[in-house]
Amino acid sequence: MDAAQRNPTLHVSAHPLVAHKLAILRDTGTDTKKFRELVRELTWLLGYEAMADLATRGRRVQTPLEETDGAEVDPEVGLVPVLRAGLGMVDAMLELIPTAQVWHIGLYRDERTLKPVEYYNKLPDAATVQVCLILDPMLATGGSAAATVDILKAWGAARIKQVSLIAAPEGVATLSGAHPDVDIHVAAVDRELNERGYIVPGLGDAGDRQFGTFAGPASEPGHAAGDETAEVVRRLQRDLAGRS
Ligand code: PRP
Ligand code: URA
Repeated sequence: MDAAQRNPTLHVSAHPLVAHKLAILRDTGTDTKKFRELVRELTWLLGYEAMADLATRGRRVQTPLEETDGAEVDPEVGLVPVLRAGLGMVDAMLELIPTAQVWHIGLYRDERTLKPVEYYNKLPDAATVQVCLILDPMLATGGSAAATVDILKAWGAARIKQVSLIAAPEGVATLSGAHPDVDIHVAAVDRELNERGYIVPGLGDAGDRQFGTFAGPASEPGHAAGDETAEVVRRLQRDLAGRS
C-alpha cells in the first residue's frame, strides 16, 4: 500500500505533466529563472486539482444568443503563502482564482531544532474566508504546515488544504496526525528526510533555488547536521514507523 492509499486526505497528482515538470524542477542543472517558471506551472496544475471540490452556486448568464445557466465559485477562498518559498506559488493560484484573498504567514525553520519560528502574521481578528489554501513548496518535517494550520484554525477558517510540490512521509504523518481534516495536495511524496531535515531525493532548498540565495557549502541540504537536528529527524522517523 502506498502513502496515498494509507491516507485518504493525501492527494498525489497522477498527471503526466506534473511528473514531467517535477523531474526538471529537481534537476540540479535547472537555473533559478527556469526553477521559478516550473514552480508556477506546477502550482497551476496542483491548484486546479486542489480546487476540484469547491462548491458553486448557480447564476444566469446572458450569451450573445440567449440567457443560460452558469455557475460561480461559492466560498471566499484565501491563499496563504508561507514566506518565503510559498511566494512563488501565489501568481499561478491567482490566475486560477483571481477573486482569492492573499494572507501571508512568515515562518522559518530553526536549523538546529527544525521547529517553525513565526515572524509575520497580519491576519485580522476574524476569518474573512471559508476555504484556505496553504502554499508552501516543501512539506518536510511538517512542523511549518502544522503551525500554519493551527494559526488558521484559531483565526476561524472552516476548511484548510495544504498545497505543496514535494512532501516527505514524515511531514505527511505529522500534518495529518495533528490535523486529520486537512487535505494535502502534492506532486510527489519522496523517500525520507536526511539528517538535516531536507527531503531526499527532493530538490534542495526551495527558497534558495527560487530566489538565487546560495550561502555556500555549510548551508547546503546535504551538509552534515548537528546531533540535535539528526535526533529530531530520527524521532520523526521512529514515530512514522510506529504508525505504519
Ligand atoms: C522551508 C519550506 C517550508 C519549511 C518546510 O522554509 O519552504 O516553509 O522549510 O519545512 P518543515 O516541514 O520541516 O517545517 P525555510 O524555513 O527554509 O524558509 P524560507 O522559505 O524562508 O527559505
Ligand atoms: N525546505 C526546503 O526548502 N527543502 C527541504 O528539503 C526541506 C525544507
